[in-house]
Formats: sequence, C-alpha cells, structure tokens
Amino acid sequence: MDKFLVTGGQELKGSVTISGSKNAALPIMAATILSEGKNIIKGVPRLRDVDTMAQILTELGVRVTRLPNGDIETEVKNESESLARYELVKTMRASICVLGPLMAKRKTARVSLPGGCVIGVRPVDLHEKGLQLLGANLVSEHGYIIGKTKKLIGTEIYLGGAFGSTVTGTDNVLMAATLAEGRTVVDNAACEPEVQDLAVFLTKMGAKISGIGTPRLIIDGVKSLKGTTHTIIPDRIEAGTFIIAGAITGSRITVKNCRLEHLSALVDKLRDIGLTLNKNSETECTVLPGKKFNPVDISTLPYPGFPTDLQAQMMALLSLADGISVITEKIYPDRFMHVAELNRLGAQIRKEGPYAIIKGVPKLSGAPVMASDLRASAAMVVAGLAAEGTTEIHRVYHIDRGYEKIEEKLKKLGAKIKRVSDKETATGDE
Ligand code: EPU
Repeated sequence: MDKFLVTGGQELKGSVTISGSKNAALPIMAATILSEGKNIIKGVPRLRDVDTMAQILTELGVRVTRLPNGDIETEVKNESESLARYELVKTMRASICVLGPLMAKRKTARVSLPGGCVIGVRPVDLHEKGLQLLGANLVSEHGYIIGKTKKLIGTEIYLGGAFGSTVTGTDNVLMAATLAEGRTVVDNAACEPEVQDLAVFLTKMGAKISGIGTPRLIIDGVKSLKGTTHTIIPDRIEAGTFIIAGAITGSRITVKNCRLEHLSALVDKLRDIGLTLNKNSETECTVLPGKKFNPVDISTLPYPGFPTDLQAQMMALLSLADGISVITEKIYPDRFMHVAELNRLGAQIRKEGPYAIIKGVPKLSGAPVMASDLRASAAMVVAGLAAEGTTEIHRVYHIDRGYEKIEEKLKKLGAKIKRVSDKETATGDE
C-alpha cells in the first residue's frame, strides 16, 4: 500500500488542469450497454474506479478500449451475460449503475448488492423502487439483485428518500426509462451536473429526455439507441479540492477546466470565509491569497447545495478559521471519519451526531494519519499542505480511486508531496 508524505507550509503557484468527472464518467460508461454501435467518450479520467467499470463492462460483453489519444471507445459485442460480480462491485458502489441499462436492454440482470462503506449504510432501495415501478421484477438472493422483465413500461416515479434525491438511483431509472415503452416522469430526480451529463449523453444516443437539470425528468421511451461521441464535464469535486488547497495555503493558483457554475455553493462559502475567487472565463478561475479565514456554518445538501464530497476538505480549511464553524452533514450523517484524523493534526473538532463543531486553531502540525475514504484522503492532503512539518498519509489507494495524478498536479504547483511505496518503507502499512 502506498502512502503520501506531505511537507506543509509551501506556497502553491501556477495553474492546474482539472480532469473529467469521475461521477459522470462511470454512469456514462455503464449507459453504453444500452447502445448499438460504437461510443467515443472523451475526458474519462485515468482512475482505479474507471478501470473497475471497464472490467465490469468487459465481463458484460462490452469491448472497452483506451485509445492512444486517451479517449475511451466502447462497443457491445455480446449481450448474453448479465452478471456484475461481488468481487468487483464491492470495490466500487457505482457498479450498481449497470442495473438499469441491463434491465432495459437485456431484460435480465444479476448485480451484486454493493453493501455499506465507511461513509454510511448506503441502501439501494430507491434504485429498486424506481426500476420495479417500470416493470422490473427484482429479488434479492445470496447478496445479488436478480432482475427479470418482459418489458419495461413508462410510469410516474417519485424518487425521494429520507435524505432527498439519489444521484445513481436517478441515473439507473433514467437509463432504464430511455428504452421503456411510453412516457416516464421522474419526480425528485437528482439535479447534479453528473446526472445532467448522463442525460445529455443519452440524448445524443437518441433518447428523448426533457427537464434535464430539474427535479422532474420526462423520458419518452424509444426503440433503440445508437453510439455517439461525448466529452465528460470537468470534475467539480477535484476542482473544489484544488481551490480549497490554494485557499488553505494562502496561495494564488489558477484552476483550468473548471466550471464555477457547478460550484456556486462552494464559491458562496469561500466569499463568506473572506476569500476571493476570480472567474477568468467560463472554464477558468484564480484563487487569491487570503489573510485570515472567517468561520462559517455549512450544511451539505443535494445539488445545488453544498456537496457532501467537499465536506471533508472544507473541514480542513475551517479548522484554521478564526472562530467556531459548524458543519451539518445532511446526506451521509456518518461521513465524519476524517474528524479524528484532522484532530491528530492539531485541529479541534467535536462530532455531535450529524454535526461537526470546528473550533479554529492557529496552526496544524504534521503527523501520521489514515485515509479512510476518497474525500477524507483528499482532506488529509489539503490539511497536510498547510500543516507544519510532514504529514504521513497512509492508505492513499482511496485517493487513486477518484483523483487523477493528484501528487503530480500538486508537485507542479510547488507542493512538497511524495508517494512512497511499501518497498521503500521498512515498516510498511498495515
Ligand atoms: N439513499 C437511499 N436509498 C437509495 C439511494 C440513496 O436512502 O436507494 C440515500 C443515501 O444513503 C444517501 C442519500 O440517499 O443518504 C444520497 O445518496 P445518493 O444515492 O445520491 O448517493 P450515490 O448515488 O450512491 C453519489 C456519488 C457519491 C456522492 C453522492 C452524493 C457517484 C458514483 N457517487 O453516490 O460520490 O457522495 O452521490 O452526492 O456518483 C465520491 O465520489 O466520493 C462519492 C461518494
């Protein structure tokens, strides 16, 4: 297992280019199950999760090729298989995104239940409910969702749960409805830019979808979908992470291939904190150095609210604010594994149920910490950049799931960050 050694206190300089969105790329890759002919997907980041999705699709008879120019080409070659194995699904929950396309196109599916993870229980009841309303017969057996249907028929679906809309649940129902007979109306659909990107991709394949980006999606089923070419939107969470990295180190950095309109909740909070973010163009912004950080209160919410995927990184920044901030986690009330690790760096954060109360401290100091999940790992890196001395971040395999070449991008900005493999460390990781 690799670890990162981050030596804090370096001012960052220059520019960073953001990769394509992981959470848009994964369902879009799954959606290619629906199509006849070749698809070319541009801007797919080189990540472990993308490799996992490619493997799942390969096992489902889809040829997936990374072309020399970096594009991903897919083509369905064999439709006889319908299994997404536990061994793959357990490593990446987004694997569940093959369920909707399999039901719609192949009328049969055997997809492992993803199970929980460190950020929470994460049920898939809403995915199942939506697909069942469309006419899928789903049963759960031996840890697998077994699905069968004669045909899917459009209907009205309310897709909200106790924590609001569901991103990949909306993806699944949307994909299934594109080939269903008649009209499907999805209410309380997730509005995240990644869901919008999937809807745009499906539309290019020939799907009839209206209401993209709103909580009401209307899908008129079509007989078939064709292959198409699409460029994935920039990763707003990666962009947000770099913006926060610039802010916490008091640096001036330019973030390219970043759509600030997807980050308005972050921009708003940074302004309250006292930071300036210049919008240079539709796809570029510059973070300006700030003198001190005001404390702020934040609630994570479905889009366009503050993203839960930036909660941990923002907590790192607020741990250096001049006063007390409160973060309320409204999507995953247990997504606070990073609290104890930030406290190891000298932060003063108390967790009370779904709230984190962050008493700002004047400085953080480097220490060994554990990366518990993807975004928590990013928070450790962000905190390490600001901490005095060296922060040793164990289990960075989490970060490789979702950040393309993060240490290379940070090094280019002048950060002192080093990836150390097991072999180089006498003690190694557990
Ligand atoms: N939920 C249910 N039932 C369901 C589905 C969801 O109760 O059937 C609950 C969840 O437990 C949660 C809330 O609804 O409390 C929202 O979950 P959602 O379904 O929207 O999450 P997801 O689709 O599993 C995606 C991202 C996550 C991101 C969340 C929230 C992908 C591949 N994953 O997950 O990304 O945190 O939306 O925005 O798109 C990450 O990239 O690090 C990551 C975890």
